[in-house]
Amino acid sequence: MFRIIKSVPKSLFGKGSFNQLEEILEGMRTGTGSFFVFLVDDFFKDKPLGKRIALKGNDQLIWVNVDDEPKTTLVDKIRDEVKSKNKNTATALIGIGGGSVMDYAKAISVMLTNEGPSSKYQGLNLAKNAAVYHIGIPTLAGTGAEVSMTAVLTGPEKKLGIKGEFTPFDLIVLDPELIKDAPKNQRFYTGMDAYIHNVESMTGYNKNTISDAYAMQSQVLCREVFLNDKLTREEADEKLMVASYFGGLSIGHSEVGVCHALSYGLSYVLGYHHGIANCIAFNQLEEIYGEDVREFHFMIKKHQIDLPHNIAKGLSQDQLEKMTDTAYALEHMWKHAFGADWKKHVSREKIISWFKKM
Ligand SMILES: [Fe+2]
Repeated sequence: MFRIIKSVPKSLFGKGSFNQLEEILEGMRTGTGSFFVFLVDDFFKDKPLGKRIALKGNDQLIWVNVDDEPKTTLVDKIRDEVKSKNKNTATALIGIGGGSVMDYAKAISVMLTNEGPSSKYQGLNLAKNAAVYHIGIPTLAGTGAEVSMTAVLTGPEKKLGIKGEFTPFDLIVLDPELIKDAPKNQRFYTGMDAYIHNVESMTGYNKNTISDAYAMQSQVLCREVFLNDKLTREEADEKLMVASYFGGLSIGHSEVGVCHALSYGLSYVLGYHHGIANCIAFNQLEEIYGEDVREFHFMIKKHQIDLPHNIAKGLSQDQLEKMTDTAYALEHMWKHAFGADWKKHVSREKIISWFKKM
């Protein structure tokens, strides 16, 4: 069965491209009732980027805290807040931040036009109405969230994305200047998300020529960024943004695998952010991803990253079971990694043994 892939129709790329945002938005204002919602990572509240957001008329600026992984409850709260301040539908929603803000922006733009709690829409193509026009402006690179069809959310019952036709951004602004101040560890963990996307995309049953082409080039760029000392930071940032974009496109056409399934379990129960959770899981997956994991170990050392160890030590049986339930339920990832008979290759016991190594 072939799938229809919807990717982002418009993109603006280049150092300094963020400066064009105001002009783009001005062209979209349709009258006095027209307003924009800016959803911005509260990390930028007192930073220069936060001050560059120019509000006009009834525009709303919402600072979003992403200490925790994106939650359906916060999506609903922000949606209600926007609607209570203005009964008109927003002209556009602009998300500025890392992968979590990208996911919030996608989810909230869908929820501004669809009734009820967002947990009702966790799944594939469940939204009935087209989303509010939404623009994604990443300030971290690697997750591919800027280009994916999914807004990954943790709900009351599960960690599962709102995925579908209405989720992808209508426009993305990729300005490498915006990622230049990312803290070292965070930059590494998020960058490795792209690296892992490529590995998983290329090594599973859903891969095809398109997903391979994106993943291969993304991997070339990831290796330049994390292994080539001759690159300036400016050159590296530009390459990392494109690596993230291509890695996201690659998994859109293929799928993620073992590492992401385990990582979802870690995030759901222990609250780890996606990038670091992936690194913790990938670190222990040499038996599956061989040479790529050895290269990952080399990069960890080279960049002097302190990856958390022995995180399974203090876990209760209940926590381990919950993590395993979360991972085991991600059938599409296991199928991609091991084929239709994946249950012959992966048992709950096997998953628990991986978690125990972390
Ligand atoms: Fe990922």
